Amino acid sequence: RKRVVILISGRGSNMNALIEATGDPAYPAEIVGVIADNADAKGLSVAAAQDIETVAITKADHADKAAMDEALDAKLKELRADIVCLAGYMRLLSPAFTEKWAGRLINIHPSLLPLFKGLDTHERALKEGMRIHGCSVHFVTAEMDGGPIIAQAAVPILPNDDADTLAARVLGVEHQLYPLALRLVAEGKARMENGRAVLSGVGAEGSLL
Ligand code: GAR
Repeated sequence: RKRVVILISGRGSNMNALIEATGDPAYPAEIVGVIADNADAKGLSVAAAQDIETVAITKADHADKAAMDEALDAKLKELRADIVCLAGYMRLLSPAFTEKWAGRLINIHPSLLPLFKGLDTHERALKEGMRIHGCSVHFVTAEMDGGPIIAQAAVPILPNDDADTLAARVLGVEHQLYPLALRLVAEGKARMENGRAVLSGVGAEGSLL
């Protein structure tokens, strides 16, 4: 089984979906650590309660971004991570870091990329009058939310939606999509080559409609 470390900043519901999926011994990956960028991240206690090693690596404890990313890299090596999953990790990683982990670093973003990179994705989808919205799991590159897409899930936007109801509908499919996408990466069915995602032995299962 591939050794996976999850990076979070907050509540960690996607983290929890990954922990649950990897609880099945037949799943091709296991969670060996959870790292947060702040000691208050709620997900840390959820992971610790399941006997997963947790650690906070914070801005306050490091001189600059490079030093913090080096500490992160060192911890990932110590945990012998094969794959790193960003799950609501609300901090940009340096190009030096994303290059080091290229092809082994994935993120979930709450929009159908390349639409709505960045923050407030649900508000922006509503404001644009979108009728469909969703989430994407992608390989992380130096460009924020710009790396090659592995899998996507779509949901309808309903006439009475506000950002909260829409976020909740998207979150429901995030929890399905992330375990599915991690499985593809862990099995070597989704790989990053020359800056593109290459899918092999995969049909429509990366597209949740
Ligand atoms: C999720 O909706 C995730 O897609 C989003 O933050 C939320 C974290 O929730 N990530 C981003 O916006 C990344 N830019 P969670 O902590 O409950 O998984």
